[in-house]
Amino acid sequence: MAAAAQVHMCQTIFPAHTNYRGELGAGQLLKWIDTTACLAAEKHAGMPCVTASVDDIQFEETARVGQIISINAKVNRAFTTSMEVSVKVTLQDPLTTFQKLICVAFSTYVAKPLHNGKVDLKPVEFVTAQDFLEHTLAAERRKIRLDHERVCKNLVEECGMNSEQVCNQEEGAISTDLTHVQSTELVLPPHANHQGNTFGGQIMAWMETVAVISASRLCRLHPTLKSVDMFKFRGPSTVGDRLVFNAIVNNTFQKSIEVGVRVEAFNCEEWAKGQARHINSAFLIFNAVNEHGELITFPRVKSITKDGLRRYHGAIARKKIRLARKYILLKQEDNCTLDFWDRGNQADKIESNVTALTVLAEKPGWEMISTSLDYLYPLCSSLKLNPNPSSRKAKWIGVDRHIPNPASSHWPAKKIKMFTLEETDALSVKVEMQVRISSELAFSLLSDFRHHVQWAKHYSTCKVIQNVTEEDKIYHITSISINGNKPDDFLILVSQRKPCKTGDPYIIAVRSVALTSVPPSENYCRREIKCAGFLIYPDGNSSFVSYCIQGTPGVMPYVAATLDGSSKSIEDTASGCIHFLELQSSTMDCI
Ligand code: COA
Ligand code: ADP
Repeated sequence: MAAAAQVHMCQTIFPAHTNYRGELGAGQLLKWIDTTACLAAEKHAGMPCVTASVDDIQFEETARVGQIISINAKVNRAFTTSMEVSVKVTLQDPLTTFQKLICVAFSTYVAKPLHNGKVDLKPVEFVTAQDFLEHTLAAERRKIRLDHERVCKNLVEECGMNSEQVCNQEEGAISTDLTHVQSTELVLPPHANHQGNTFGGQIMAWMETVAVISASRLCRLHPTLKSVDMFKFRGPSTVGDRLVFNAIVNNTFQKSIEVGVRVEAFNCEEWAKGQARHINSAFLIFNAVNEHGELITFPRVKSITKDGLRRYHGAIARKKIRLARKYILLKQEDNCTLDFWDRGNQADKIESNVTALTVLAEKPGWEMISTSLDYLYPLCSSLKLNPNPSSRKAKWIGVDRHIPNPASSHWPAKKIKMFTLEETDALSVKVEMQVRISSELAFSLLSDFRHHVQWAKHYSTCKVIQNVTEEDKIYHITSISINGNKPDDFLILVSQRKPCKTGDPYIIAVRSVALTSVPPSENYCRREIKCAGFLIYPDGNSSFVSYCIQGTPGVMPYVAATLDGSSKSIEDTASGCIHFLELQSSTMDCI
């Protein structure tokens, strides 16, 4: 056993590292990430290592000239010849106290002894509880990454998204052919490591460059890299190789766009014969902002080639897998860390409750995933989900499967739209509903959580614990128990606000609190809600109700079944809510 090898790198961002906006290029960051992670792997292995893959990466924040990038790489687990290395990238500003985690990446390195044989790496010792968690999660991530290609292929097939299907008949859809980019690079000694192998980071940087050009052909703006769906290094390339990069837009998703890049290598002889070695393929997700700094909506795309159609559907499958993967990893870090509710912090908590919900709802980057959600269904089986040792998810699935919602069939799915927002440490969900009821009545019915028992199928009991003010109450909610599992409970602060001026929504904000008078009991598993709630907008005689929930680990079991496609839980709950509200409205009309 050896203590986890760690390597730290600090870089000041100079103009040469940046793009035309003075922002750090993602390609440069990928090079630094790969170098730091490779050094950590070599420190553990005691021999040269090569990059086998880099899992999905999300880039949260742009870094600018003069700021400092701090990278910390740590070997989480050694398998046989391969190791998982986690990389955390922090952005610091030397002139202020600003400091932010901007990216977390997981790379796999394979040890390559000089004599070309295979080694059995020594295990990594875990000292802290965090080391142990990382060690466990590393095995989960390995399963997902090694299965990624098969899962994606299955998903495309199971969804019936084969190449015979038409990809998009929408009027005005733009042909992806316009976005094709090809670029060739000659690998020189500065691009390679001490073994003469091309640096993985250099290949990723070149891939990013062609992908940016491809994406810009569709939006005529400078796109920003938001995330990468796994870099997989299939085979080595060395100094003297010619690398040919082909990129094309595969699909667009409202505010984001997927560009695929395929890399082929040729040595001098292969070059003359046209014999390519496929060394890498990756899928890069971009968004773009207009001159006002707002995220633009990308035009829809179409392709008439067989490959184009296959890739169009492949992009949809990859997006679903990304969401499900995020859920799997988030839900395993569940821990409740709430401050107690006391006189000193009540005002702050109430204020931040309302603000947090407004900020969450207004965040840029919400993407509609469905108006009917049907397309998500095959995902669960193709991912063979339920890697979580706990049975929480099974319980939730049980809720949906065993208690059919009579309301769901009454209302057309288009009354309900569902959106997701992907951030580094959260996957939030928004449901929008069109309801035939005045906004004032919707507000009054939804702000009293005791009514929710009538339509939210997972509620068992709900009672008011404390009337803090007329507009702020603390509720204790328990969930129903399924299959003998321990039910969950929630202690939440609900803050209701009427609009201050015309056009503002009615707000019902929700967050968890801790009370000494209602401590967690052994009969329930106490769950935490960081930010959730309703925003209700008048729409003539109807209302437009938007429900947002930040998908932290405590609430993921309640949204996961929909995200991973195993049930229509969110849609059914939303249908139940609409049905309840409209029934109350018609009852009142009769009176
Ligand atoms: N992601 C993560 N790990 C992977 C992987 C992937 N996509 N593909 C293979 N591996 C792991 C295997 O799980 C195995 O791990 P284990 O021994 O701990 O169980 C290890 O790599 C070796 O797998 P194996 O099937 O024996 O070898 P391979 O013939 O598939 O080779 C590479 C794997 C990565 C060595 C090979 O594909 C390669 O050389 N790629 C290019 C590397 C490179 O040039 N990188 C950039 C420059 S440094
Ligand atoms: P797939 O075609 O199944 O997606 P590949 O590994 O062949 O897998 O390619 C990965 C991505 O690279 C493709 O999705 C596509 O976006 C891009 N690509 C591949 N070949 C070309 C090409 N000849 N021209 C433009 N882009 C290409």
